[in-house]
Amino acid sequence: MKTNALKGEIITPGDKSISHRSIMFGAISEGTTEISNFLQGADCLSTISCFRKMGIEVEEKKDLILVHGKGLHGLSAPSDILDVGNSGTTTRLMSGILAGQSFTSCITGDESIQTRPMKRIITPLSMMGADIISERGNDCVPLRITGTNLKGIHYNSPVASAQVKSAVLLAGLYADGKTSVTEPALSRNHSELMLKGFGAELTTDNTTVTIMPNPKLTGQKIVVPGDISSAAYFIAAALIVPGSEVTIKNIGINPTRDGILRVCEAMGAKIEYSNRHDSGGEPVADITVSYSSLTGTKICGDLIPTLIDEIPIIAILSCFAKGTTVIADAAELKVKESNRIDLMVQNLKAMGADITATEDGMIINGGRPLHSATIETKKDHRIAMSFSIANLCCEGELNILHKDCVNISYPEFYQDLASLKQ
Ligand code: S3P
Repeated sequence: MKTNALKGEIITPGDKSISHRSIMFGAISEGTTEISNFLQGADCLSTISCFRKMGIEVEEKKDLILVHGKGLHGLSAPSDILDVGNSGTTTRLMSGILAGQSFTSCITGDESIQTRPMKRIITPLSMMGADIISERGNDCVPLRITGTNLKGIHYNSPVASAQVKSAVLLAGLYADGKTSVTEPALSRNHSELMLKGFGAELTTDNTTVTIMPNPKLTGQKIVVPGDISSAAYFIAAALIVPGSEVTIKNIGINPTRDGILRVCEAMGAKIEYSNRHDSGGEPVADITVSYSSLTGTKICGDLIPTLIDEIPIIAILSCFAKGTTVIADAAELKVKESNRIDLMVQNLKAMGADITATEDGMIINGGRPLHSATIETKKDHRIAMSFSIANLCCEGELNILHKDCVNISYPEFYQDLASLKQ
């Protein structure tokens, strides 16, 4: 075998979704929000830079970020275009906040974000009365948002998307009455948990969330749990490299995010949990993952939103499983940082896998040996990390293009991976 057994411990970096929210919610709260284990990835740094441009002081201390909030109505007109870089979460959540301000702002970002669909937020925010325009008329950024008086709505979202849900809820803070969002399946609920912690009046009923306007939000201490989406690469690595046993500490295991664990267990993975505790309303645990003999599975329906960002690495795992894995109901993958159905299928085919793209997912017949190839990442961090794991168990070496894009969500990824090799 090309790679010796992986052994050791990884401390998962801070959760990306929760890091973004801690800056944004801190900015519109009164007083200081103190954030530890903040993810210093490029996406979250884009959020900091946007809120600084709107007059929010963000102090970076050793191991701590302090956000000096100015309250719901304390943001000022940005000094410049708000550059979100590669970050969909920054774009969509911030748009919800900007829709209720008393100034005009303009959002843009990199090549990838300029192709990602924003109609999904333009539609509900416009229903609330927002003045939000896609400047090129293509429903993508650049967006120009002129703050207006918003009205509360009940929005039936056609997609299970935490970014859409959060954009509407955040705009709801500035509306004239209550705002509700119903989604077709429950997406990650970090906004709901955290907004409540900051003092928002918010209720949930199945897949419907309702928020009341104009709360008094107060700065909080946030300990960001480890990002299960980052941990996923090491879970997979331990499962496919014979003889491995890896402990991954401090993983957020919120049930709206833990689908990867459930799928791995359904495939036959040996995973042990310890040190279960709570971190700022979010469940956290350490897990120990051992090399396991895997079998294919079916992944679809309500499970999809709980593992949407992990599907690239699940596709890699499936190549090492006996039998067929079917991934369905995941058309959302086409509009992530890249078209993740096309890229996974193209790259895994180039490595010799038996994989077929479908309209809303992929079908993988596992067990074929994988070999070296050039991997197109389109600068998508999750594609680069997924193939770095595949590289542990293929013949020869993969040539992964634009490998550095991992800094979007996990700047220390390659060092952490190297630390497990003996
Ligand atoms: C996120 C929600 C998901 C996820 C993204 C982060 C969030 O996107 O894929 O990486 O922080 O709310 P969608 O809302 O588009 O599903």
